[in-house]
Amino acid sequence: MKREINGKTKIIGVIGKNIENSLSPLIHNQMILKHSLNFCYLPFQVAETDLNKAIQGIKALNIRGVNITFPYKEKAIKLLDEVEESARRIGAVNTIVNNKGILTGYNTDVIGFKKSLQENGKFVIKEKKAVILGAGGAARAVVYALLGEGIKEICIFNRTSEKIKKIKQDFSLFFPQSSIKAFPLEEESLKDKIEKAHLLVNTTSLGMASQIDNTPLPNEKLFHPNLLVYDLIYHPAKTLFLRQAERAGAKIINGLPMLVYQGIESFYLWTGFKPEGKEVLKMIKRITYIA
Ligand code: ATR
Repeated sequence: MKREINGKTKIIGVIGKNIENSLSPLIHNQMILKHSLNFCYLPFQVAETDLNKAIQGIKALNIRGVNITFPYKEKAIKLLDEVEESARRIGAVNTIVNNKGILTGYNTDVIGFKKSLQENGKFVIKEKKAVILGAGGAARAVVYALLGEGIKEICIFNRTSEKIKKIKQDFSLFFPQSSIKAFPLEEESLKDKIEKAHLLVNTTSLGMASQIDNTPLPNEKLFHPNLLVYDLIYHPAKTLFLRQAERAGAKIINGLPMLVYQGIESFYLWTGFKPEGKEVLKMIKRITYIA
């Protein structure tokens, strides 16, 4: 498979602060090659002070669209012309589409998380109890996905309390049938809630390659074998959080399937093509050796 960049090549990409380790360029360029499309996906490393200029640059350079990643998913929303309804409710976008100079924001993390949980975790969300660690943009998409599928209870733990209060306030109105509770990231309340939970999700950045010895959970004794433990991080493939969970006998899942599934949804918005999820995941695992 050979690709030629020419005058008609459409540019897509990802905007983030530290994206050297992002797998999105690999995933999207593989999908482009597979479907012989005249697109090219590029990494755009952007400093916080330049986010506004970078987003305006999408229009100026006639870029077809971009993914938005850490830490801009919430900040970017204010810089767009239109925002799709669920992304507006979540308050975070991970995808921008440029339609003739109109920038519209979407959140494909919701479907990415839901699909990975169902297909790779074999997890039925309805009537279950979940504990979510973190309350940033990624956490808001995860919480929204779980609420949309009729989860019974969500307990959100975060270092900064204003953010969890805001999630609770924003989502309780739309999903009155589910219980949403907010707690500071402390061992005592974590213990009580994790004991009764079926699903535990890390949405914080603790444990990423740059801080590999970190974990958001203060004590590894909090894991138990009846949990599905999910870390949104995919680099490293097995964080300390996941290694400890595995040692405790829990089923684990890393962030790669979600990255692939959300990427496919974004790809569809830009190109109109929707590659098969399982095939793309298999291909990326083969290339990266990430299990
Ligand atoms: P994203 O869009 O990927 O969710 P984010 O909005 O910056 O990124 O959110 C990062 C999350 O990781 C937040 O919940 C953050 O906690 P705070 O709200 O207290 O900032 C959490 N996080 C990052 N570093 C952390 C640390 N050292 N200890 C605890 N939580 C941390």
